[in-house]
Amino acid sequence: MRGLRIDTFTFIIATVVQVYSSSVRREGRLSVTELRERNHCFAGNSSKMTNSYLWRIIRDPPVYFFGTIHVPYPRVWDYIPQNIKQAFCESQNAFFELDLTDSNTSRNLKRCQMLPRGENLSTVLPENMYQRLKSHLGYVQKMMPSWGVYDEELFHTIAGNWERKRPIWVMLMVNTLNEADIRSRGIPVLDLHLTNEALKMDKRVGAVEVVQEQCVPLNGLNVSQVLFLLNRTLWQQEALRDGTIESSFSTDDLIWHYNCGDLNSMILNLDTAQIPNILNSTMSETDLRLAEEIDRYFVDELINKRNQQMASRVKEIVESKSNQSFFFALGAGEL
Ligand SMILES: *[C@@H]1O[C@H](CO)[C@@H](O)[C@H](O)[C@H]1NC(C)=O
Ligand SMILES: *[C@@H]1O[C@H](CO)[C@@H](O)[C@H](O)[C@H]1NC(C)=O
Ligand SMILES: *[C@@H]1O[C@H](CO)[C@@H](O)[C@H](O)[C@H]1NC(C)=O
Ligand SMILES: *[C@@H]1O[C@H](CO)[C@@H](O)[C@H](O)[C@H]1NC(C)=O
Ligand SMILES: *[C@@H]1O[C@H](CO)[C@@H](O)[C@H](O)[C@H]1NC(C)=O
Ligand SMILES: *[C@@H]1O[C@H](CO)[C@@H](O)[C@H](O)[C@H]1NC(C)=O
Ligand SMILES: *[C@@H]1O[C@H](CO)[C@@H](O)[C@H](O)[C@H]1NC(C)=O
Repeated sequence: MRGLRIDTFTFIIATVVQVYSSSVRREGRLSVTELRERNHCFAGNSSKMTNSYLWRIIRDPPVYFFGTIHVPYPRVWDYIPQNIKQAFCESQNAFFELDLTDSNTSRNLKRCQMLPRGENLSTVLPENMYQRLKSHLGYVQKMMPSWGVYDEELFHTIAGNWERKRPIWVMLMVNTLNEADIRSRGIPVLDLHLTNEALKMDKRVGAVEVVQEQCVPLNGLNVSQVLFLLNRTLWQQEALRDGTIESSFSTDDLIWHYNCGDLNSMILNLDTAQIPNILNSTMSETDLRLAEEIDRYFVDELINKRNQQMASRVKEIVESKSNQSFFFALGAGEL
């Protein structure tokens, strides 16, 4: 699977966690002086390797598009060039994919992830897959103290109520239950950090999507497709556990390419991020066909359709306030 899709998934996941831990808060208003000080914001630290995901529409006042990725912001922040931070500071409106300040976002996402009333995974999954899943979650819970992060509450925040979730969401959850991801829980991802900054600077904050638009299409895969994904995810985790494969988890690669402003490599190299690499050269003909079919579904539903919709929303938003400046922070893959 290629990168664009992964960005979508990780975004939803990152968002869920962040929203659940309600780290977005509207902070008190700033005085004019404080605001001015903030507008010299983010002073310093342009590094020699800097990314360049900034586009500008020729318009007065300007409209900027900035490509974000959904990783803990300290890992990329120093590489974001000053001109981007400046554009952000000067824009009156800051728009993101989702409105993380809206409590409906997390409520709707939770609702979207749940199985219909009365169902749970023990009845939905084949018995042996259910047991493998249960055993893997037990393993994670057991390992968390040695990852230096354990508290009961954290595990329950991430994995609680897993039996009531739709298999596709459990699959995505399983992919985030690794040491690196768990350690960085609670550190805002870049999008969230920018949202917080925008609120502090008293910008108007908005979104170009609602959560259902990211979420509902994921529920559209059918049973055989979802079981295939979950099976492969579990297979991968089991193989990692007993050391027959090495982690192909490449958040570090992704960050490196992003920081170097290398969008093409980024897309190409995203392959192995969060979602298991379902295309595998030794796969049977049937499995390969299934994997490609799922891949196509994701491209259509989560990239192409969303891109069109986002583009028309952006147009609407910008045209409705033709004398204001805008800063759109959307997934780099999306741009
Ligand atoms: C700039 O970045 C370097 C290395 O990442 C760090 O050591 C330094 O403290 C940073 N300077 C500022 C002003 O943030
Ligand atoms: C949240 O959802 C409720 C009901 O679905 C709706 O009435 C309300 O306007 C929504 N709030 C926002 C901020 O969109
Ligand atoms: C799942 O559903 C089955 C059958 O309705 C029920 O026996 C079981 O207790 C449920 N498990 C959980 C964890 O809710
Ligand atoms: C799932 O969808 C694929 C392609 O759309 C189809 O070939 C397959 O038979 C479906 N499986 C089920 C269980 O509906
Ligand atoms: C899971 O995948 C393995 C290996 O690819 C396969 O042998 C097995 O039949 C699959 N199980 C299910 C329930 O799909
Ligand atoms: C591909 O998947 C099969 C099981 O379906 C596994 O045995 C093999 O090691 C995998 N290959 C790679 C490169 O991951
Ligand atoms: C923007 O335009 C509206 C109406 O066209 C006007 O009322 C408002 O004063 C303008 N604002 C600025 C900052 O120019």
